[in-house]
Amino acid sequence: MCGIVGAIAPQDVSPVLVEGLRRLEYRGYDSTGVAVAPQAGTLCLRRAVGKVAMLQQRLDAAPCAGPIGIAHSRWATHGGVTEANAHPHVSGDRIALIHNGIIENYVELRSELVAQGYAFASETDTEVIAHLVHDHVKQGLDLTVAVQQAVRRLTGAYAIVVFDAQQPDRIVVARIASPLVVGLAEGANYVASDVQALLPVTKRFQFLEEGDVADIRRDSVTIFDADGHPVQRPVHESSLSADAVERGEYAHYMLKEIHEQPRAIADTLSERIVSDHVLEAAFGPRAAQVLPLVQQVHIVACGTSYHAGLVARYYLEQGARIPCTVEVASEYRYRNPVVMPGTLFLAISQSGETADTLAALREARKLGYVATAAICNVPESSLVRESDLVLMTRAGPEIGVASTKAFTTQLAALGLLGLAIAQRRGIDRRIVALYTRQMRQVPEMVEHTLKLDAAIRGWAQAFSDKHHALFLGRGPTWPIAMEGALKLKEISYIHAEAYAAGELKHGPLALVDHDMPVIAVAPNNTLLEKLKSNLQEVRARGGRLFVFADPNTGIEPSEGVDVITMPDHIEPLQAPLVYTIPLQLLSYHVAVLRGTDVDQPRNLAKSVTVE
Ligand code: AGP
Repeated sequence: MCGIVGAIAPQDVSPVLVEGLRRLEYRGYDSTGVAVAPQAGTLCLRRAVGKVAMLQQRLDAAPCAGPIGIAHSRWATHGGVTEANAHPHVSGDRIALIHNGIIENYVELRSELVAQGYAFASETDTEVIAHLVHDHVKQGLDLTVAVQQAVRRLTGAYAIVVFDAQQPDRIVVARIASPLVVGLAEGANYVASDVQALLPVTKRFQFLEEGDVADIRRDSVTIFDADGHPVQRPVHESSLSADAVERGEYAHYMLKEIHEQPRAIADTLSERIVSDHVLEAAFGPRAAQVLPLVQQVHIVACGTSYHAGLVARYYLEQGARIPCTVEVASEYRYRNPVVMPGTLFLAISQSGETADTLAALREARKLGYVATAAICNVPESSLVRESDLVLMTRAGPEIGVASTKAFTTQLAALGLLGLAIAQRRGIDRRIVALYTRQMRQVPEMVEHTLKLDAAIRGWAQAFSDKHHALFLGRGPTWPIAMEGALKLKEISYIHAEAYAAGELKHGPLALVDHDMPVIAVAPNNTLLEKLKSNLQEVRARGGRLFVFADPNTGIEPSEGVDVITMPDHIEPLQAPLVYTIPLQLLSYHVAVLRGTDVDQPRNLAKSVTVE
């Protein structure tokens, strides 16, 4: 999604702006731009299609230096990927503006502004905001008031950042439904869509709330709420280091993040299990009051987080004996679901800013749930701020668009939730104790599984020229097969589908031939013999099998059957986390062989803040 950076300082801000964009690259984008006021009355604009490096080349050829500026990376929604559609957008050679979000009533605003004589240089919805602000400024309004008036005309979602080159004493920002954070420093202030962008210049942040407008000057920040009243927003000190987003020795962020999983899972579990017992307080101060009331759980999420929810259904129903439904947020939010008394709403999200998931949470708040809960990786996100109970995953910043450590830490957190509910429902303490011990073993098992990397890389060649692949699993590793298929398609662009292996004969078996690789996850559980029969169905049709198998399954390599043996003694509770690892590595190596952009796959964004 679009990235936003703004700065006002005593010195040239263009290096901070470009570095900020570079640090937001993981969000996904297709063009970039920067606008700086070198001095009052002058506006310097550079934009480029493609990566931040292209913008840097433009700036090297024709520098744009000045003490106030804004920069943007665009993920196209309205209008194609062109330089003219890239932000910043300018009105009257003085108002420069960047925007994240979608303005739903832009067609009518555009007609109105055209009728007033404004010429449009782009096909974007954003440009109307620049002209609207300019129109108010021309009428003599102070820039902050002009922005307050302009945003009242907008319907939709926005984080906007704007300055007036004729009065370059401040940056004005506003937000509804798109995140914005103000970075505070000595004699300089900043704004961005996410703290990552600003970590090299400050660790002190104020998170703007829905409807806030802020007037940001070199030595002051004044925030107004949606009613225009001055408000104080708390100052947070970030514990992230500026190099938390560096890729170090790894060729890609995705590979680094795959290898970070033992630590990330251990961190997510740490201090939350004491004496074989899950601490309810980990879910926040209201947990002790809410958990005894929970009779069922509705889980809502998108993409990879949805797959984590599908695994959680097994943890909650089989483990904690509590009914659970799981649904994608984009459907849930419009479905008007029936909510029985005692139902907990649980949103799962890495970013905590996914528009569909947030909208679902806001819808859920009206529906009579016993409480709302979030499992999330970003402490200051909207999802965390708006949920009653929160369990943070401690994956650290995830930069690769393809989710890896966020997923396995979500599974760890969901395991904790299942155990916390099991405790309350009077499940035998010895069973809870056994499961908590098994959870604690997962980081080490993941560490062992990462050692299979070379063998998995050896398989990648067999996929690199394929157009399709099937993934099979059963029980709690069926969602893991789904996640494996999602990973393969999003980074290698190979069409991949996942099926519960028992479903194969109900249709997809027709697709199986020698050109359709079939990847199966085969842990040693009660469904193993059934899975083996399903794999026979594939072999009988000439399909080539690639199986990640427990050492005790009896599945051996043979003609058309490749097997990688997983570590021994992986328990059913642990299997979803551990069997995820080889599927991530397989997708990664296939994508590398195919030469795709692993960390920023085409058409995708890390944080999907538009509907
Ligand atoms: C998966 O690799 C993707 N990054 C995507 O499916 C992602 O999980 C989805 O967009 C939801 O994001 P969230 O967890 O930040 O809400």
